Amino acid sequence: MSLIDDAARVRENAHAPYSGFRVGAAVRTASGRVFAGCNVENAASPEGTCAEAGAIAAMVAAGETELAEVAIIAGARAPISPCGGCRQRLAEFGGAQVPVVMATLDGVQVTKTLGELLPMAFDASHRARG
Ligand code: THU
Repeated sequence: MSLIDDAARVRENAHAPYSGFRVGAAVRTASGRVFAGCNVENAASPEGTCAEAGAIAAMVAAGETELAEVAIIAGARAPISPCGGCRQRLAEFGGAQVPVVMATLDGVQVTKTLGELLPMAFDASHRARG
């Protein structure tokens, strides 16, 4: 089963009553474990969270911190790419070479690397003084 299948399955649980736009995300870690998340909207709009954020939170809660692959699926006409904030969240745990597979429900897929999605990412090395 592909990582997109995991993302599609968790998408069914998305809480998106305001946008009606359900998103599922799944991540595979370097150790081979898979974690999934869906978007969780809120009546107080800014409190909503993206599917990618949920998948990352589940991964970290399980003690894993190294991304090997990311998959994102939504019911849009074309594959959706992660929002800017989620690109930064993904870059915290994955190198520039990590593939991000973006898919529609109809089976259209596009794959880009994290480095392509977020060139010159701000990372821990930039926080060093001097
Ligand atoms: N959304 C995600 O969950 N992931 C993305 O990559 C893009 C957008 C969600 C946020 C919101 O609940 C809905 O899609 C509409 O923007």
